[in-house]
Amino acid sequence: MSDDIVSSSNAAAPSELIAREVARRRTFGIISHPDAGKTTLTEKLLLFSGAIQMAGAVKARKSGRHATSDFLEIEKQRGISVASSVMQFEYRDHVVNLLDTPGHQDFSEDTYRVLTAVDSALMVIDAAKGVEAQTIKLLDVCRMRATPIVTFMNKMDREVRDSLELLDEVESVLNIQCAPVTWPLGMGKTFRGVYHLLRDEILLFTPGEERADGEVEIIKGIDNPILAERFPLEIEQLKMEVELVHGASHPFDLEQFLAGKQTPVFFGSAINNFGVREILNALIDWAPAPRERDASVRSVEPTEQPFSGFVFKIQANMDPAHRDRIAFLRVCSGHFERGMKMKHLRIGKEIRVSSVVTFMASSREQAEEAYAGDIIGLPNHGNMQIGDSFSEGELLQFTGIPYFAPDFFRVVRIRNPLKIKQLHKGLQQLGEEGAVQVFKPVDGGDLIIGAVGMLQFDVVASRLQGEYGVDAMFESASISSARWVSCEDKKIFADFEKALSHNLAIDAAGNLAYLAPNNVNLRLTQERWPKVVFHTTREHA
Ligand code: G4P
Repeated sequence: MSDDIVSSSNAAAPSELIAREVARRRTFGIISHPDAGKTTLTEKLLLFSGAIQMAGAVKARKSGRHATSDFLEIEKQRGISVASSVMQFEYRDHVVNLLDTPGHQDFSEDTYRVLTAVDSALMVIDAAKGVEAQTIKLLDVCRMRATPIVTFMNKMDREVRDSLELLDEVESVLNIQCAPVTWPLGMGKTFRGVYHLLRDEILLFTPGEERADGEVEIIKGIDNPILAERFPLEIEQLKMEVELVHGASHPFDLEQFLAGKQTPVFFGSAINNFGVREILNALIDWAPAPRERDASVRSVEPTEQPFSGFVFKIQANMDPAHRDRIAFLRVCSGHFERGMKMKHLRIGKEIRVSSVVTFMASSREQAEEAYAGDIIGLPNHGNMQIGDSFSEGELLQFTGIPYFAPDFFRVVRIRNPLKIKQLHKGLQQLGEEGAVQVFKPVDGGDLIIGAVGMLQFDVVASRLQGEYGVDAMFESASISSARWVSCEDKKIFADFEKALSHNLAIDAAGNLAYLAPNNVNLRLTQERWPKVVFHTTREHA
């Protein structure tokens, strides 16, 4: 792959090579509600591509989905989770980057921001349950960038809900058009396989957890007499349903899919490795290669010669003894080569990156090179933050890496006042890492932390204790929501700040936020100050 690269400082890869490498990249994340089967599916995708040889490798790291303590245990072993939070593998001469989006009770802003670094998403739905709460939230985030979505209806080997009803629910609740590509033949104990609507063939189901190859028996044509012979009951039902589907649903339309308006739907069973090949093929054939990205001054094409990228996630203190942090950078253009120089635009410094981590098939390896769509891990000691942009010199600030207004708030107190300095340091670093949002009241007083998921507080408490030696208490705060505020009229804004200083606080990046005790207060304040804008998200400062 690197044969034709000239070896010098910041060697430029020929533009045809860059274009070729970009075209064969697919970077996606899986979105799902807890227990829908994301872990199982991730594992099958890796098995399929030959990236891992053994079932259990991914699952091993996922333990005790429901127990906070287990989650914290996992957090402690972050060396493992960092390796598996980005998984790169090759399939059909494509380079696939699968980004893990923590989707259960550890649901946090991290999840949202990972979605800013993907080009498409795979939505996994438990067909027995249908659309669930976190799927709705995650899809809202995908919509912000019109991310194309492929849908997988999982667990067809169980008693599940009516397929047409499921599609209806996706369309009405998630507000996205469904284009079924496969259709189930039976379900639960009588699940026989799926009918591929575009190829007019039946893929027969054979249960078996250990099947890694995904080889299936195929019967051509829905009217094939073999089907009537083997599945006399199910095939009649299938024919009726397929007629309905043809009449009532939308045919697959690539443009609509790429615009994030339509989702191709596949049925299958992750645990039985059934239907997995079809979704992997859909991602390769239909999902977009890296596309242009918006930056502050212009959009950046992935095939541009100079290197650029942005940090969308930080994982810190993987090794508490060394206080190391890894910044996850999504490459947006050009060619990254180990040892090259790049400019850290926020601090205006040039850095030479020699020890960079890449994520081949769930192990940490030294990255030699990377192209748009790839993720590289930059070890650092705290000088990199979420949203930081890097380039070969041009002043480009990539946009669209959001912080979300928290839904939960706590006042932070410490048992030992001598530890106040450590508390501030710990909270500042955890704030920079995006583990929690920290607000300093304008009128003084205790720090307030905000989160989009309650579990973030447990994680922060445990990390303050473990990494900074601070025994912190989190007490309930009489705050129901936070909004970042801005106003074009300086005089009005100064009056606003003066009149409401007791409700105002500064966040870790120095932005002013209004902390409302309840929704009525927020509404009234907004009405009283019509020129002040109340933002539910803020971008990197
Ligand atoms: P998650 O990452 O989305 O939270 O889900 P995960 O893959 O862990 O799957 C949740 C549960 O659903 C697991 O069972 C898993 O085995 C099961 N599952 C996943 N895909 C299928 C499928 O296609 N069919 C059926 N019948 N079950 C499926 P568990 O009992 O909670 O865990 P485990 O003991 O099997 O690990």
